[in-house]
Amino acid sequence: MNKHLIAPSILTADFLHLDEEIRMVNKSEADLLHLDIMDGVFVPNLTFGFPVIRQIKSVSNLPLDVHLMIVEPDRYLEEYRDAGADWLTVHYETCPHLHRTIQKIRELGMKPAVSVNPHTDVALLEPVLGDLNMVLVMTVNPGFGGQKFIDASYTKIRKLRKMITDAGAKTLIQIDGGVTEENIGSLIEAGVDVFVVGNTVFSAKDPVQVISNLKKTF
Ligand code: DX5
Ligand code: ZN
Repeated sequence: MNKHLIAPSILTADFLHLDEEIRMVNKSEADLLHLDIMDGVFVPNLTFGFPVIRQIKSVSNLPLDVHLMIVEPDRYLEEYRDAGADWLTVHYETCPHLHRTIQKIRELGMKPAVSVNPHTDVALLEPVLGDLNMVLVMTVNPGFGGQKFIDASYTKIRKLRKMITDAGAKTLIQIDGGVTEENIGSLIEAGVDVFVVGNTVFSAKDPVQVISNLKKTF
């Protein structure tokens, strides 16, 4: 059985009762808490900022996996660390000096990850693969929860898995978007390590049970 991690994304949680939602995740078998930060520029949606992250940090028992969908992320790396980010993901498409950005994230004490949009070839990450704790392959176009999984992602995931094996790297493969109880099995087979799951968890009647089902899949 492959050991894989589940990272619930609170994007589709009930924000009026965020405290309860996070306590529910604390009680579950989830491994990371995924926070989606959107700026209305890189993606056509807006979410939340540092004060909300700090408050989430004070309630969550899990490491915070912060996914930045913002332009010029270098301007705020330290603030995200101070707000409580443990893992910090920047988008390849937003970083002209990606190597420098990755080093800075690590120097600040966070685990660096880089995300690629559906149109971006994972081969572009080959020069920095060994510097990354994780690569996030977007399996929907970023911006919204509840979208349909893009099937062409399987080819990208397999290609990335081969790149990591060939490089002898320990980099994890994370995917984000459209993960369900139905497709998680074939995605584990394709080589995914970490699953971001929004809608499938937060629109379920019993989210703790769904997280448990996702963890048990192999
Ligand atoms: C989309 C976000 C995702 C989103 C996934 O831009 O990055 O983290 O919450 O949601 P689902 O699992 O509903 O596709
Ligand atoms: Zn995300």
